[in-house]
Amino acid sequence: MRAHCTYKVTMRVLGIETSCDETGVAIFDGDLGLMAHVLYSQAHIHAEYGGVVPEIASRDHVRKLLPLLDECMKKAGTTRQEIDGVAYTAGPGLVGALLVGASAGRAIAQALGVPAVAVHHMEGHLLAPLLEPNQPGFPFVALLVSGGHSMLVEVRKFGDYHVLGETLDDAAGEAFDKTAKLLGLGYPGGPVLARAAENGDPDKFRFPRPMTDRPGLEFSFSGLKTHTRNLWNKHSEEENARADIAAGFQKAVVDTMVIKCRRAMQQTRCSHLVIAGGVGANLQLRETLSRAGKKYGWSVSYPRIEFCTDNGAMIAFAGYHRLLAGETEPNIIRAQPRWPLAELMSTTSPR
Ligand code: KG4
Ligand code: ZN
Repeated sequence: MRAHCTYKVTMRVLGIETSCDETGVAIFDGDLGLMAHVLYSQAHIHAEYGGVVPEIASRDHVRKLLPLLDECMKKAGTTRQEIDGVAYTAGPGLVGALLVGASAGRAIAQALGVPAVAVHHMEGHLLAPLLEPNQPGFPFVALLVSGGHSMLVEVRKFGDYHVLGETLDDAAGEAFDKTAKLLGLGYPGGPVLARAAENGDPDKFRFPRPMTDRPGLEFSFSGLKTHTRNLWNKHSEEENARADIAAGFQKAVVDTMVIKCRRAMQQTRCSHLVIAGGVGANLQLRETLSRAGKKYGWSVSYPRIEFCTDNGAMIAFAGYHRLLAGETEPNIIRAQPRWPLAELMSTTSPR
């Protein structure tokens, strides 16, 4: 169980992210902001298997984490003694990969005599837009779309998250990854499919807009995936079919998200929309939602591309707010592969 106690006015927090196939380390300081962040992506290693191989991911985190920690400290120009707390991703994610960051985070905190806090990976994604200069104000609606999750969340303040709707099956990023694999485009699927789509006609084939003909904020991408597979089986020999199908698929996903975001904004009466998570790096999604924002009168913000996908900065930032609120936990190494966002305890942060 976590306990609460008062802590200092500002802090310098080391953040560690190892939940999947990116090793991320960052240092966030309450006064100076993000001092440094470094990232190593294993994507090229997993590419030959067409997806993340958990054991390879864990072993690579072991190899890369400590050199990245040194590099990050050097980049930030800080010493170990100046670190006031450690934040590590405790879940959701791959258990072996999480254990690497959790063990290192806990051990460093123990050695330095500072508190450590287990951070929820999706809270990191949710708060990543706040690392940017033109931060959205609370409350806002976040479209959180990553490789493992698709959800709309009302963010009322730090630690106060209300899930408005989730995917019933595949996550958006997973749908991109599987579709890219089907089309023989490689891994990771999102960026390669988006690139292929640039040369395609999105209206050449008809695609459904799943779950938009009924009320609600749930997503479902499995029907779209089947539709795409059937189209590909039928048309794969045709000229430019790969690019046309990629473009049509991407447009269907983007349109579906825009419709759901509009509903969420109407339902919550929020005026700020935030796009977060790996699929938030998709340029068509960013542009289309920005246009929708102008049309319907919402402000739309998103993190820079490198903070959409997994990174240590968002973990340092989320951990900073939790530690500042006085959150502590017992001296344990916490790795929680399944951890619903709804179970996340709120911070006592006054902000
Ligand atoms: O947030 P993230 O880095 O990891 C998870 O927490 O899952 O998201 C990774 C997902 C992958 O499925 C990847 O294909 C997708 O984000 N992605 C994209 C783009 N860049 C990454 N999807 C669509 N378009 C992109 N440009
Ligand atoms: Zn992520």
